[in-house]
Amino acid sequence: MHIDQATPAELENALAELEQQHHQFIDQNVQLDLTRGKPSTAQLDLSNPLNQILGDSTHDDEGTDLRNYGLLDGIPAAKKLFGAILGVTDSDCQNRVFVGGNSSLSLMHYSLWFAYHLGIQANGTAWQNEEQSSGSTTKILCPSPGYDRHFSLCAQLGIEMVPVALTGHGPDMDQVEALVKADASIKGIWCVPRFSNPTGEVYNEETVSRLAALGKIAGDNFLVLWDNAYAVHSLSESAPVLASIDEKAKALGTLDSVLQFGSTSKITFAGAGIGYIASSEANIKGFTKHFGMASIGSDKLNQMRHVRFLQDQAGIAAHMAKHATIIASKFAAVADSLEAHIANTGMGEWSNPEGGYFVSFDTKPGLAKAVVALAAEAGVKLTPAGATFPNGNDPLDNNIRIAPTYPELADVENAMAVFVNCVKLATVKQKLAE
Ligand SMILES: Cc1ncc(COP(=O)(O)O)c(C=O)c1O
Repeated sequence: MHIDQATPAELENALAELEQQHHQFIDQNVQLDLTRGKPSTAQLDLSNPLNQILGDSTHDDEGTDLRNYGLLDGIPAAKKLFGAILGVTDSDCQNRVFVGGNSSLSLMHYSLWFAYHLGIQANGTAWQNEEQSSGSTTKILCPSPGYDRHFSLCAQLGIEMVPVALTGHGPDMDQVEALVKADASIKGIWCVPRFSNPTGEVYNEETVSRLAALGKIAGDNFLVLWDNAYAVHSLSESAPVLASIDEKAKALGTLDSVLQFGSTSKITFAGAGIGYIASSEANIKGFTKHFGMASIGSDKLNQMRHVRFLQDQAGIAAHMAKHATIIASKFAAVADSLEAHIANTGMGEWSNPEGGYFVSFDTKPGLAKAVVALAAEAGVKLTPAGATFPNGNDPLDNNIRIAPTYPELADVENAMAVFVNCVKLATVKQKLAE
């Protein structure tokens, strides 16, 4: 049944069936959860050798005692390994990569805090100083739907978020360039360039080039906040590749305006991984100096464990292929369910990601909150509607993020059966109320 072609009688019949099914789900009293964008136990198990790999080793190849303070910006071997994920060449990685902490989000938090209060570079200008002299609030462009924690980070610092559209291959660059040219108080743009959270899209080459060039047209101290959380997280070998923003920014002379972030949270252990940043030499120097106020050094033994375990880009690719084997069936379960029940009904559209951690589902306008509430009633927890937009405000109330990696496959299948029924129920109810 296509929702826009159904007769009133068909809609009434459908409503009765869907409500009956919904009540059966409620009676089954299930408790399922599609909110958690985190690795499953089987994925974490892949990295258990990390726990034994160092044996009695205490020093790295350069002879540094990894148990002691020092190497605030990371051990050389880790800079080389993680710099390569962010496209920084071997000759540059020692000066243009920072490795530290156990999370990229905390490095993003530090970066924004430094940029706002101090200036990223050691003698840089803080956004708040510009704010005081211009009288304009600092703003950051937020391609939406996007990652909720980017938005809460901005909200915490009082930074105004300006939503911009996504096109399926990255942000709408005409819109981005026009905004940036017109307003020097726009100080950055959030980007999840490969397998975006939640849309799964991969920025195309033209978009990457235009983002790399923003530093030339933006006001002072502009930052492309390049959160490449899913850089190596493809579901198959044929997934689209991402052009190197580092290479482009280097050629354009705009490296100061590009901060790249990544972590091993979804490569090894989500709570015990490694975070890293790549940027210009001056930015990394400034960041390291500021970071040094909070720490005398990160866990270098963990960095060495990761180097020994993952070894090189081929090692990372082989390891990530094992992750893909575990989670591909869960993504397929989501796609199969949507294809079987929602395709050709006019009741929703969804992404078919080739990597990353999420599927993005768009209901008909005005129904995301209703679907999430119905699903909760039937024991399926979904990410709150609106969470994928700045300030929790989805203007169309139609986007829902589905995270299938953590539950067992059977639970993903069961949760999707409830979900598609909720989508249909909410849509039919809306249509009948028109
Ligand atoms: C786009 C994006 N960036 C960063 C993170 C968090 O990464 P980390 O564990 O390195 O802080 C996530 C987690 O879901 C994410 O989706």
